Amino acid sequence: MAMQPSNGTALVTGASTGIGAIYAERLARRGYDLVLVARNRERLEQLAQRLSEQSGRSVEVLVADLNDKADLARVEQLLRSDARISLLVNNAGVGATAPLLDSDVERMTRMIELNVTALTRLTYAAVPGFVARQGGTIINIASIVGIAPELLNGVYGGTKAFVLAFSQSLQHELADKQVRIQAVLPGAIATDFWEGAGTPVAHLPGEIVMQAQDLVDAALAGLDQGESITLPSLPEIADWQAYQTARQHLLPNLSRQLPAQRYRLADRAR
Ligand SMILES: NC(=O)c1ccc[n+]([C@@H]2O[C@H](COP(=O)([O-])OP(=O)(O)OC[C@H]3O[C@@H](n4cnc5c(N)ncnc54)[C@H](OP(=O)(O)O)[C@@H]3O)[C@@H](O)[C@H]2O)c1
Repeated sequence: MAMQPSNGTALVTGASTGIGAIYAERLARRGYDLVLVARNRERLEQLAQRLSEQSGRSVEVLVADLNDKADLARVEQLLRSDARISLLVNNAGVGATAPLLDSDVERMTRMIELNVTALTRLTYAAVPGFVARQGGTIINIASIVGIAPELLNGVYGGTKAFVLAFSQSLQHELADKQVRIQAVLPGAIATDFWEGAGTPVAHLPGEIVMQAQDLVDAALAGLDQGESITLPSLPEIADWQAYQTARQHLLPNLSRQLPAQRYRLADRAR
């Protein structure tokens, strides 16, 4: 097989299965060496062996529980110290479908630690090197529930709203520093995620469920097209642009010296 020149190394979290494993495969095909991060060593090693055989790329395994501070620190340290890393895919995440009254707050806290805290710390570890090397990309896997928190468990929606807001703020902050940030907002994807979240994917209507391969290929097409936010299911990009335009329209009026007229109850009483 003719080897493509290396694009650098991509570190993919949650690479042992589902969306992360497909990212790993697609990125190896695109000429990236890989660091695969997750807890399940056996799955990671099987994938690493298959991908290095298929692509000829270097594929390393880093077994880490991103809910564990010491493990997370090891991944952060690698991101800080390995100048070959040019792409971080913040994909590892868990979800929930139960409402607050049926949810365990300890489980919700662990979800926040994985979906928000780990993603934030890994981003903080990667960005300074990307800025110093004048190049790098972060792909943050958010979700449509980041803009539609009514659909599933509210803490899960909240974590994904964080991922979207954090990504948008970084896009703004890093615009002139050759660092790209893409937020991907998948709808329902056919992975083990749903089993762990409390609703097997077979219980969802087939017409709303996308295959992980289709999701990742669409998200990478969005990246290639220069998108900073990619909604793989949305048929009309104009609908998203209208949503963003409405948000921009609010901005000049969101911070003012006086409350809006409708809240000036004291004026009315006088
Ligand atoms: N599936 C969907 O419908 C959907 C929709 C929108 C967004 N998403 C998002 O897409 C991302 C990937 O989800 P998926 O559907 O591919 O789920 P998945 O099939 O359950 O895979 C999750 C991955 O994260 C890893 N992981 C879980 N907990 C971890 C921890 N504490 N430390 C390190 N790795 C951990 C898992 O590996 P180990 O078990 O080996 O650690 C696995 O590789 C998540 O952020 C999810 O919120 C999914």
